[in-house]
Amino acid sequence: MSNYTKTEPSTIRALFDSIAPRYDLGNALMSGMLHKLWNNRLVSFACKSSPKNVLDLCSGTGEIACMMQKRLPAHYTLVDFSEEMLAIAQKRLPDAAIYQADVEQLPLQDASFDVATCAYGIRNVRNREKAFSELYRVMKPGGSVAILELTRPKQKILSRLHALYLTTMVPLIGKLLTSNQDAYRYLCNSIHSFVAPELLVQELEKSGFTDIKVKPETFGIATLFTAKKA
Ligand SMILES: C[S@@+](CC[C@H](N)C(=O)[O-])C[C@H]1O[C@@H](n2cnc3c(N)ncnc32)[C@H](O)[C@@H]1O
Repeated sequence: MSNYTKTEPSTIRALFDSIAPRYDLGNALMSGMLHKLWNNRLVSFACKSSPKNVLDLCSGTGEIACMMQKRLPAHYTLVDFSEEMLAIAQKRLPDAAIYQADVEQLPLQDASFDVATCAYGIRNVRNREKAFSELYRVMKPGGSVAILELTRPKQKILSRLHALYLTTMVPLIGKLLTSNQDAYRYLCNSIHSFVAPELLVQELEKSGFTDIKVKPETFGIATLFTAKKA
């Protein structure tokens, strides 16, 4: 049985610590580079308002902040609970403010950020209500958030092919790259068991966000959610 069937934060953190050195390569192989396209959509939205203070939640190795920094000089703050993922982010973004913390309890001041991003992170978070409430607290009024997540296509045949890919190819790629098939099996399970986009919208609304938009990418394999703090 997988060591990563439980979803305690400490287990998830250990998982990302263990795959950190090969995480970016794994992403590229598993998505067939499609993640670059989805990341670009997220970054384009996030840069649109020329924010001065940007927060990247579940930042991992800093991929999103790096992409943004190339387009936009701003102050970047990264939060993630995996020390090993952040060690890579720190090297890539020496000027960023980096916090090792759980996004359910942000060590950040109220109303500090113009824009916040979160890519492929929210499905790992145990208590999204807490995380969204914290996110709302630290956003400035008028600030925008963009959440990118891996989702399941709605179309039946595509959905079956997608499930097959997740259960066969992804753990195999994980095994080849990191000898940690369990970790990649967990990542697949987390995509499978993640809530439907409609529910995520309700959760964002409940936390106070407005102007929520949902944009499926590549037949719904990924979804970009955007919202505002009024
Ligand atoms: C799939 S990676 C995504 C990394 C990055 N955003 C990217 O686009 O490549 C998910 C990241 O979320 C972090 N994470 C998951 N749950 C978290 C939580 N509750 N608090 C802080 N970080 C969390 C993990 O440590 C991991 O680095």
